[in-house]
Amino acid sequence: MELEADARRIVEATTKKLGSMHRNQVHRDPWPDFAAFDVARYDRELRRQAAWQWIARAQAEHGSVHQFSAVVHALTEARAPMELLGALARLLTDEVRHVELCAQIALTMYPEGADAFFKWRTPRAPWPDAPKIDANAREATELRLRGWAARAILTACALGETLSEPMLEALVVVSTDPLPRACSEQILKDERFHGRFGFEALAVLMPTLDDAEKNALQDQLSRALAGFERTTCGKTTVQDLANSEVEIGPRDPEAEPNLGTLTEREFAAIFYATLEQRIFPELEAVGLDPMRAWAERGKFPAPAKRPEASAETRAAE
Ligand SMILES: [Fe+2]
Ligand SMILES: [Fe+2]
Repeated sequence: MELEADARRIVEATTKKLGSMHRNQVHRDPWPDFAAFDVARYDRELRRQAAWQWIARAQAEHGSVHQFSAVVHALTEARAPMELLGALARLLTDEVRHVELCAQIALTMYPEGADAFFKWRTPRAPWPDAPKIDANAREATELRLRGWAARAILTACALGETLSEPMLEALVVVSTDPLPRACSEQILKDERFHGRFGFEALAVLMPTLDDAEKNALQDQLSRALAGFERTTCGKTTVQDLANSEVEIGPRDPEAEPNLGTLTEREFAAIFYATLEQRIFPELEAVGLDPMRAWAERGKFPAPAKRPEASAETRAAE
């Protein structure tokens, strides 16, 4: 028996009723017209490369569902305010939609893709599991749990989501086809909200942490900056970018057709600019020290086994 590619299984229909519950909850905006994509219009290699970036994005979005559901669980155990859970509940449904959009566009663009091309990884969190509540030391273990949740939110939302926003803005600009543009626009609207959630949630959690947890959060900032720099910029460094301007503008659809891809240089340019202009001031506002974290990020080399924190829109390796 031949196994279907995992990405196809991930988006396949189940029952009629489950399908309608899912669409009511998850398809908030009109669903893009995937059937209108004209495969014959584009060169196979262009479609293959774009599909590769979209499928990597789909897997990163799936990682967000996995990470945010763990944060919901931790904050529930820590008896955190319901408003945190309410906002997170929206994030979850958004990320499910993003998985679907990104997987569907990849499958649509590259119907020739073999099963191996659309193979799906099991999501794994880029951090250790949440600590358990000890019934005999409830206050103390709840504090540890809030610290864990703050580190996860810092990494996945405050950094990851805020970084993905300008990357999606760039995808909207460079895409020369209506389908990748529509998918990027839908995701972009949500990621704006997700980044905001990250900093609001940190503003709530920070004052409830003790010094040890605050220090652990500051260390996590260094580790996460190192991880994002590796996964987003690859071999491109700040110095590489210093001497020349990276122009991210609309492409000529005939000369430079683009199905929703950015180069490593473009990812890197967006990464460094976003850190400086948008992220560092917000981190300072919640009481963290981003400049120190940046200077100390070399202390955190690439992990041997654990997957790294990654921006939802990072370039595919
Ligand atoms: Fe997302
Ligand atoms: Fe998100």
